[in-house]
Amino acid sequence: MFITLEGPDGSGKTTQARRIANWLASLGHDVLAMREPGGTEIGDRVRAILMDRANTHLDPRAEMLLFCASRAQMMAEKVRPHLARGGIAVCDRFADSTLAYQGYGRGLDLGILRVLLDFATFGIKPDLTLCLDIDPHTGLQRRVSDRGGMNRLDAEPIAFHERVRAGYLTLAAEEPRRWVIIDASAPPDVVEQRLRDVIGARLRAHSAAPGKSA
Ligand code: TYD
Repeated sequence: MFITLEGPDGSGKTTQARRIANWLASLGHDVLAMREPGGTEIGDRVRAILMDRANTHLDPRAEMLLFCASRAQMMAEKVRPHLARGGIAVCDRFADSTLAYQGYGRGLDLGILRVLLDFATFGIKPDLTLCLDIDPHTGLQRRVSDRGGMNRLDAEPIAFHERVRAGYLTLAAEEPRRWVIIDASAPPDVVEQRLRDVIGARLRAHSAAPGKSA
């Protein structure tokens, strides 16, 4: 089973992805936890280019292809083999981030992005996508008070982050069976419990389906 976490910056995804991966492992599942961009040696080098605030002149197409390059490497090296072994992969951001940020945020053509994403991901789609939804003002405030500080994309104007959030909500509405929207303004423990409820229910349904093992 392939689970992805999505949402605007500062929605607490990274904390929740870690908690969920630990929880699933404690239940005895074989869990692979990944974050994007990065997650492989090559992907982490691509990530450094993408996150560097000095790269103000990075072209939107080059940016998008770098996200796709990191993702293709992660799929080839980690996620695809893990899913083939019957494990659960939990990914902090995935292809929907490219649709939300480079498509809705930057305005790149969604049709072209979908073709490239299909190629980069080996056609593998998440079984479940959890969107931690937060108002961008609140998200960015959280981000500024984080120790890690702002990356190159956080530094975009608020209108960009508004488009990203609206993009996520549109994507979720298009595929309501795959997406679940979770209010990320709630306290972390409440958000985690909600995630556990949704994932738990989905796992039960998944293992009940013929031919599925995880
Ligand atoms: P990161 O520090 O991992 O932020 P977060 O904790 O919010 O995931 O930085 C990832 C940034 O890259 C984030 O601003 C979203 C952006 N991004 C894209 O623009 N396109 C993508 O395809 C991906 C995976 C991320």
